[in-house]
Amino acid sequence: MSEIARQTERLPGAGRARVFSGVKPTGHLTLGNYLGAMRRWAVTDQHRSEALFCVVDLHALTVEHDPARVRRLSRQAATLLLAVGLDPALCTVFVQSHVDEHARLAYLMECTAGVGEMRRMVQYKEEREREKGKGARGEEEWGGGRLSLLTYPALMAADILAYGTHEVPVGEDQAQHLELTRNLAERFNRRYGRVFVVPRATHPPVAARVMDLQEPTSKMGKSRQVGTAGIVYLLDEPETVRRKVLRAVTDGADGVVYDRGERPGVANLLEVLAACTGVADPAELAGSYGSYGALKKDAAEAVVELLRPVRERHAELAADPGYVAAVLREGAERARGMARPRVDAAYGAVGLMAAEGEERGEGEARW
Ligand code: TRP
Repeated sequence: MSEIARQTERLPGAGRARVFSGVKPTGHLTLGNYLGAMRRWAVTDQHRSEALFCVVDLHALTVEHDPARVRRLSRQAATLLLAVGLDPALCTVFVQSHVDEHARLAYLMECTAGVGEMRRMVQYKEEREREKGKGARGEEEWGGGRLSLLTYPALMAADILAYGTHEVPVGEDQAQHLELTRNLAERFNRRYGRVFVVPRATHPPVAARVMDLQEPTSKMGKSRQVGTAGIVYLLDEPETVRRKVLRAVTDGADGVVYDRGERPGVANLLEVLAACTGVADPAELAGSYGSYGALKKDAAEAVVELLRPVRERHAELAADPGYVAAVLREGAERARGMARPRVDAAYGAVGLMAAEGEERGEGEARW
């Protein structure tokens, strides 16, 4: 057995499915992030698998950014990961830039991917348009947008593949990036020998796809056309949450009916209420309401109650920055230990020579 395979077998949790997911610190985390992904990470994933959850701060640099804000949002995102119930005794919580393996492997992914497949990514096209539209910058400063916005999926593939990840619990909007990650893993393995596990995306049930309260045909947090009135942030005050939910856009039709296509605003409220209260089928709830007012009131209270423990726990953790920093330090150390052997194997497989005294596999890594 090779040294790499031996090290991998000794890793804690070897044999259980490995799960990896990330949050990007480009904005405050929303109810959509929570119901769409984070809640499941805490309730299910960390218990049944060997899971890693990462604040993907390098990804925040792909668009114009304010350094102080990225730092603040990264700290807040990490604190919120713990506040929603991720337990450092069960899973690994860390910050991407603390683990060099991500950037090391991203370069090999850039050497595996083609320019054409990067340009086809929908998120790239959308964010590029958004960046282009911001302010009146000269062509020189705009420069066509940051190169890293185009290569973003290579870094995301590296995030996932470095850990031998089997499952990636993400929102539906990340399906295309996951498909690309699978293609890159397969292509690399075919060319250089089997180094990577080919991962698959797992998506939340439809009911957890929370839409903007003011523009219920766009995902919450993605719509910038109508400002933030339709976005519930995890750290919003209860009064703010109530106001946003009570002012949600509905329609002029009579009666409360669940119809996503024709009546997206009402459907969204029913879904939010269902997701908050653990009801599987939002259509079932529709019958209990005679008016939009009553539905909004119940949905508002359900969201306030859902977020209450998260806010409280966040406040406690924010008051103890030393604890959060220690969790992140340990998390990064553990993550480094998990990623290093596989990234070294990939470096060896593509033909990069090892430094003297270093061990690096050649070709086929067996695990
Ligand atoms: N691209 C993801 C998003 O926009 C964030 C992300 C980066 C990610 N790397 C990841 C998600 C790895 C899951 C796994 O939300």
